[in-house]
Amino acid sequence: MPQLTFVLPGGREIVAEARPGETILDVARHEDIAIEGACGGSMACATCHVIVDPAFFGKLGPASPEEEDMLDLAESLAPTSRLGCQLVLHAGLDGLVITVPKTSLLE
Ligand code: FES
Repeated sequence: MPQLTFVLPGGREIVAEARPGETILDVARHEDIAIEGACGGSMACATCHVIVDPAFFGKLGPASPEEEDMLDLAESLAPTSRLGCQLVLHAGLDGLVITVPKTSLLE
């Protein structure tokens, strides 16, 4: 099972185990990390925006045109930004580090 680390605003880190096939948003939910994810993964918002550690960015599949369009709406965009609901975890992503922007968290 891939293990990943969420880095929250302020620097607190949460290490989590992901079940194969889960998305970043799924893992955040079962770890009680309050990523908004307003549309529930149907790519109709950008409130699940996360920033991927550059060392892992190349191991991800490319973003679809629809994901790119939604990311254009995200605040705090970075070169390795992705939508958390679109990143499906697999064993090759073990050790992944994900930074959660403050703008993606529920108040
Ligand atoms: S939860 Fe809305 S696009 Fe990811």
